Amino acid sequence: MGNLKELIDKLENKRILSLEEFIELLSNFTEETSNYLFEKARNTSKKYFGNKIYTRGLIEFTNYCKNDCFYCGIRRSNVDVERYRLSKEDILNCCENGYELGFRTFVLQGGEDLHYSDDYIVEIVSEIKKRFPDTAITLSIGEKSYESYEKYYKAGADRYLLRHETANFKHYSMLHPENQTAKARQQCLRDLKKIGYQVGAGFMVGSPYQTIENIAEDLIFINDLQPQMVGIGPFIPHHATPFSDFPQGSLDMTLFLIGILRLMIPNLLIPATTALGTIDPNGREKGILAGANVVMPNLSPVKVRKQYLLYDNKICTGEEAAECRFCLANRMKKIGYELAVDRGDFVPLEK
Ligand code: 5AD
Ligand code: FES
Repeated sequence: MGNLKELIDKLENKRILSLEEFIELLSNFTEETSNYLFEKARNTSKKYFGNKIYTRGLIEFTNYCKNDCFYCGIRRSNVDVERYRLSKEDILNCCENGYELGFRTFVLQGGEDLHYSDDYIVEIVSEIKKRFPDTAITLSIGEKSYESYEKYYKAGADRYLLRHETANFKHYSMLHPENQTAKARQQCLRDLKKIGYQVGAGFMVGSPYQTIENIAEDLIFINDLQPQMVGIGPFIPHHATPFSDFPQGSLDMTLFLIGILRLMIPNLLIPATTALGTIDPNGREKGILAGANVVMPNLSPVKVRKQYLLYDNKICTGEEAAECRFCLANRMKKIGYELAVDRGDFVPLEK
């Protein structure tokens, strides 16, 4: 135990541990170790962000997907999904609604849907930037070529979310069909960084076949990549996927990892994810108290929300969820935090 606290102190000072040290910490942590870590993580968040929580308006604009990830509810092979696409006008309406609610960042997320050509994405991004010049645009639309990423960037996209899912090549191949590789995915992340995007990586906690060593590898990978954002959430089974019978990921492990990430990269943008809120009614609050500093309220039209289900029992999909923003503002207030209304860019550390 003393030893584990020493490891946490070391992480705080050096901002990295060895693979073996991460494995030791992740294999043996207790409630007491967690609380020790969370206090340091919260203090670090306070130092960089005060009590402000950044907020991003999430627009899930298509649930068509050409990929077949074994864990995901909107995978191509799931024929039970009622598919939908939002038009440019639909998306702009979501943005307008969001802008009035105070959002200055929009996240356009979707399956890998070739209906949206590069030209159409460029058109959508340009139009949002024209109508709402003081907003930041985040894309989360999967693996594309360097040239495509560059086009979106030139059109005004500022950030890109692409979880690496697992850094371990063998583990990656157990979660995806053969045509989807960790090598290609990691190349995309490097391309995005090179082009100049603020980049978000991330992974699921407790995904099938994941070992503690794999998680330690994810942490080392993140340290090497130095992304501006990292999204992590528990794996949650979806009934109509090959992984329907696997158990969901652990709340305690997810929270512990948020704390570790906060100490590793002190100014990192870390969301308290919807998946975290799904496995525990206060999951997102617990995420913030473990060191997260971003929430992503759903801005998608309520009528399509039940069709964008990556996993079972997803929250924020009912009629009552029309204004997730207010719900989250209240939830944050209750634990002593406030939603920020600016773009919430990544701010590099002073050297
Ligand atoms: N449980 C939890 N997270 C999931 N994702 C996809 N399917 C699931 C699931 N069943 C995550 C993946 C993906 C992100 C958009 O959602 O990490 O990158
Ligand atoms: Fe969506 Fe509470 S945040 S309903």
